[in-house]
Amino acid sequence: MKREQWSSNLGFLLAAAGSAIGLGNLWKFPYIAGSNGGAVFLMLYLVLLILLGTPLLLAEMAVGRATRLNAIDACRAIHPRWGFVGAAGVVGAFVILSYYSVIGGWVLKYLFAYMQHSRLGDADAYYTGFVTRPLEPVLWHLLFAACCCGIVAFGVSKGIERISKIFLPVLLLTLIAIGGYALTLPGASQGLRFLFLPDFSQIHSFSDFASILVRAMGQVFFSLSIGMGTLITYGSYLDRKANLQKNAVLIPLFDLVIALLAGIAILPCVFSFGLEPSAGSGLLFRSLPYVFDHMRGGRWLAIGFFALVFLAAVTSAISLLESIAAFFIDHLHWNRIAAAGLSTLGFALIGVANSLSMGLWNSFTLFGMSLFDLMVFLSDNVLMPIGGFFLCILASRIWGFSSMLREISSNGQYAIRFPGALRWILRWLAPAMILVIFAVSLF
Ligand code: PHE
Repeated sequence: MKREQWSSNLGFLLAAAGSAIGLGNLWKFPYIAGSNGGAVFLMLYLVLLILLGTPLLLAEMAVGRATRLNAIDACRAIHPRWGFVGAAGVVGAFVILSYYSVIGGWVLKYLFAYMQHSRLGDADAYYTGFVTRPLEPVLWHLLFAACCCGIVAFGVSKGIERISKIFLPVLLLTLIAIGGYALTLPGASQGLRFLFLPDFSQIHSFSDFASILVRAMGQVFFSLSIGMGTLITYGSYLDRKANLQKNAVLIPLFDLVIALLAGIAILPCVFSFGLEPSAGSGLLFRSLPYVFDHMRGGRWLAIGFFALVFLAAVTSAISLLESIAAFFIDHLHWNRIAAAGLSTLGFALIGVANSLSMGLWNSFTLFGMSLFDLMVFLSDNVLMPIGGFFLCILASRIWGFSSMLREISSNGQYAIRFPGALRWILRWLAPAMILVIFAVSLF
């Protein structure tokens, strides 16, 4: 069977950017930045984005394109004993999907709520009332999961590429409009200051600093979709002639712009309406409805906004689902529909428990965290760094740096920029940094 392929590099770029840009930027970035010191977090995030993000993206795409296989078999093709790196990714993808889809469900709920009502009233109360209900959030989560399943069942270029091409430019414009309005709110400048002016007086000890560092690294991995094999999978459908270096610079750039715009839209309004920036995972849903309820035509902007967040979430979720399904398709020779369906069933069931942990089951905790928070911690702070660490070693040492360079340069077609730095980062700096930050997070 001929392996599917993206129709062009632009198709890949948009799909990979679609994978990177998602709830990680719009929902997670503002709330993680909000609970971790704002601008100090942003500074560390930027440093890690450059030092870890671009090199790891390159390594992942190169492994995928060179082997043209799903994440597990790709790693195994490089060395028969290294399939575990891909396997960790596939497990991680499951874990992420199990909570990602719950938030995706919330987004759908808000979209439909604005279609029915012109205002939501007290956003805080509305949010708490909704997420703690036993049944309703579960149903929205299942609906979200079903949408992703449907798209992946359609296949790579037909389903995934087509969606990403439309929504990214529109998302950008909508965020600019919301951000522009949020900046006119009274007290908005406090939100900007919080996001862009580092306030070191809030950091009292090394452990405060370390915990921000850990969160920043988790966010880089999560937001760029690295360490989970999704880019191995997407890279495996990529044409041999495409310029990987260009992709590895553009993807983080797009991703950063969208995250910053989300921060600029949300944080000023958090301060303007006297909310707490550290309010946690509900921040997006607790803050923006205030903006929508206050502005003229806000309801229509809200509908547009939540529709776009939904698309952003779907294009990321399908990249996760695709990397699970690809394994079943390539390795076990299942057909696409069965592979997508059964993978969805698996993560959707765990998702039900995650959703219930917000309300009905909230007294159940493990290691002091709700099931939902535990899944977030497990993916961002354990599985992704582990995946990233071994990926660096696999690409730069086991496969060999020169083989990787040959793939990145498309067999000499493109000059490699900064090969020395890339080599040093992948062989030494990135693994060491991941290891240290990971150790710090455990203790
Ligand atoms: N990067 C995606 C987001 O920001 C989430 C994701 C993580 C997707 C890991 C794939 C792999 O929403």
